[in-house]
Amino acid sequence: MAVRINPSILSADFANLERDLRAVASADFVHVDVMDQHFVPNLTLGLPVVRRLAEVSPLPLDVHLMIDDADDWAPRYAQAGAAGVTFHAEGTRAPVLLARRLRELGVRAGVAVRPATPVEPLLDLLDEFDMVLVMTVEPGFGGQGLIDGTLTKVRRVREAVTRAGTDTWIQVDGGVSRETIGRIARAGADVFVAGSAVYGAADPAAEIAALRALATPTIDA
Ligand code: DX5
Ligand code: ZN
Repeated sequence: MAVRINPSILSADFANLERDLRAVASADFVHVDVMDQHFVPNLTLGLPVVRRLAEVSPLPLDVHLMIDDADDWAPRYAQAGAAGVTFHAEGTRAPVLLARRLRELGVRAGVAVRPATPVEPLLDLLDEFDMVLVMTVEPGFGGQGLIDGTLTKVRRVREAVTRAGTDTWIQVDGGVSRETIGRIARAGADVFVAGSAVYGAADPAAEIAALRALATPTIDA
C-alpha cells in the first residue's frame, strides 16, 4: 500500500490556481472539489475550470463531485481530463453503472459516503470501484474538525478490502492534519486529502512531506 497525499484546491487562492497547483507538485494528485449548492450548501467550480486545470496541472486531477445528478454529470468530468472521478453514493441513482461508465472512459471510479451514510451496502461491490472515499467531515467546506467516529467506518472498509483482496484505495477527506493523520492511517486509509493543512502552511511542499512521513510508518507496517 502506498501513501498518497492529495491537496485540495478548495483552500487554494482561486485567483491564482495555476500558481497554487505548482506549489503542490510534490503531492500525488490534486483534489478538486466540485459543489453545486444543492447537494451541499456551497458552490465552487465546474466543467470549464476543471478542463483548464487538467491542461495546466503538474499532477493528475482527483475530482470529488458533491453534486446532484452525478449519473449524468460525472462522465463529463472524466471527458474533461480528470484522472479520477469520485461521486457520492447519496447523489447517484445507479452507482455501479456509473462506475463502469467511468472506467470505460479510462478514469478511476470512486464512490464517497457522508459521515452518517453507512458504507456496508458498498462492501460486497468493492471490485466495481477503484476508490472508496469516507468523508471525515460533512462535505461542503474546508477547515472543519475531523469527526472521529468516521474512522470506525474506515476500519470496516479496510477489513473488507483485505478480505476481498482488491486494490481499492481508501480515501479520507476532511480534517486531515499533522495531528490527525497518524490515527487516520492506522484506521486503514491510504489516500489523504488535505486542504487547509497544506494551503494554510507557510511551505506547502514541506507540509506535504510532513504529512507523508507521519502516515508512512503505519501504512508500511
Ligand atoms: C469538503 C471537501 C474537502 C475540503 C477538505 O467538503 O470535500 O476536500 O477541501 O478541507 P480540509 O482539509 O481543510 O478539512
Ligand atoms: Zn473533497
